[in-house]
Amino acid sequence: RIVYVNGEYLPEEDAKISVFDRGFLFADGVYEVTSVLNGKLVDFDGHAKRLQRSLDELDMPNPVTFEELLEINRELIARNGLEEGGVYLQITRGAADRDFAYPANPKPTIVLFTLVMNISGSPKAETGLKVISIEDQRWGRRDIKTVQLLYPSMGKMMAKAAGADDAWMVEEGVVTEGTSNNAYIVTRDGKIVTRQLSNAILHGITRAAVLRMAEEAQMVVEERPFTIEEAQNAAEAFITSATTFVTPVVEIDGATLGDGAPGPIAKRLREIYMDEAR
Ligand code: PDD
Repeated sequence: RIVYVNGEYLPEEDAKISVFDRGFLFADGVYEVTSVLNGKLVDFDGHAKRLQRSLDELDMPNPVTFEELLEINRELIARNGLEEGGVYLQITRGAADRDFAYPANPKPTIVLFTLVMNISGSPKAETGLKVISIEDQRWGRRDIKTVQLLYPSMGKMMAKAAGADDAWMVEEGVVTEGTSNNAYIVTRDGKIVTRQLSNAILHGITRAAVLRMAEEAQMVVEERPFTIEEAQNAAEAFITSATTFVTPVVEIDGATLGDGAPGPIAKRLREIYMDEAR
């Protein structure tokens, strides 16, 4: 696999990052995962804009322009012959003597690599996911897409240990989001409910696209918090992210939703999303 590091395309075994990189020492870095379908980037603009916002919130310089970033993405997809999967991008504040204060003249590190994934034909899209609920113990700036992902990793392990696929995190009695996706329910009268944007969740690029598509398809969207109990009694549930698109949820903390099969609204939104991405 060919990866991109600070201006160079290299075989992954030749790529090097300093042990003093602040991404490694302080999780002082941000990232994006942009999906690729049929060799094409999905919603690149949205991901590039969110990247810039994450960098701005952390006063971190961006080493590349929008056009350069697009070119690097396309070049990596071509060099690796990627048909379906994603491009992972990470920018850190770079190497500096270990100090909690940011260095005065940071030299950011930028890394990109491709990921092969079967997103369009994922078996979970057919069967639906089982999720458990866990307490949300992450920091308070979840709107910034930092590489500080240990709690979501722990959540994924808790889900696995419980025989589930993923975890939905709960704060002050209401669901924030999934470990690496946004969370939705569909009420029995057909309304799509997802938590409103704030610092408590990541502002999903797939979320923005799916909510727009739902409204275009005359579906009703309500942006408000919901509890696990409301979700367990909902008609349907689903998640969205660049690595899953729209994927149905069929079980929450052991309670089966509806008849236990993916619901019609989740299925329809998945189709609409994939049609537009193609
Ligand atoms: N995760 N919420 C969290 C906490 C996430 O980590 C993600 C994405 C999302 C969905 O955002 P988007 O639709 O822009 O992918 C929501 C990526 C895919 C990851 O960490 O691999």
